[in-house]
Amino acid sequence: MTKLLHLTDLHFGAERQDLTPALARAIALADPDVIAVSGDLTHRARPEQFKAAVAFLRQLGRPAIAVPGNHDIPLWNLGLRLTAPFRRWREGVPADLRSDWLHIGDFHLFAANTADPMRIRSGILREKDIRRICAGLVSAPPAGFRVLVCHHPIEEPPGFDRGETRNAAQGIARLVKGGLDISLSGHLHHWQPGLGVTETNTRPLLQIQSGTALCARPGEKNHGFALLQTHPGGVSVTPWLLSEAEKRFCPAKVVNFRRSDAGWLQER
Ligand SMILES: [Fe+2]
Ligand SMILES: [Fe+2]
Repeated sequence: MTKLLHLTDLHFGAERQDLTPALARAIALADPDVIAVSGDLTHRARPEQFKAAVAFLRQLGRPAIAVPGNHDIPLWNLGLRLTAPFRRWREGVPADLRSDWLHIGDFHLFAANTADPMRIRSGILREKDIRRICAGLVSAPPAGFRVLVCHHPIEEPPGFDRGETRNAAQGIARLVKGGLDISLSGHLHHWQPGLGVTETNTRPLLQIQSGTALCARPGEKNHGFALLQTHPGGVSVTPWLLSEAEKRFCPAKVVNFRRSDAGWLQER
């Protein structure tokens, strides 16, 4: 049994400072073996914001992997955005957190940078990442679950219009054919477990969409994170959601998914 904690959209620089101790406490209680952070570590990609985000992740004391989101590239510094959009990301985030992959227990994590400096919000699943991950899927140990970590959602839930993630539909079909089981993404600041038992042109992919962990922008809700726990034949997903009154993240109803030869089934 392995526990993977999915954290996303920390937005350091515009974070709920009143929630950071509660978030760290909840993560300690959840006691994950590994943490995946699917982007928007910072609000404006400033060096001090990366420093705060990395310090927070380091204090959790768990192996972790992170990918950039659209907020992790400079917005107003057009020169930097166009010539070296990921320089601050590389300078601000240590190499082990920026790793392309991480294998811990039952989870084989593959990172993809979907942030696109040519667009404000929408993302792209790049051909070079699809090829790299396809090769990694082939060489990963046969047991366990193969997980894509990326900022932009593979598919937008109904009611959202942030722009499609370009190249995602055809890219994900190839990744699923190559053995991908699960995707973890953020960006929408919206919690949706298993949006995902959706059909691709190969077999279903379990898509986990987590809400923002800490973003303080007005109107934000759905603060929380997700805990994935393996069990024989499947994965259980527990959202840990903010109780605003108690200023505490609490586990909510568990959703169980079973993997069969035909793909994923949600257990009722
Ligand atoms: Fe975000
Ligand atoms: Fe985002």
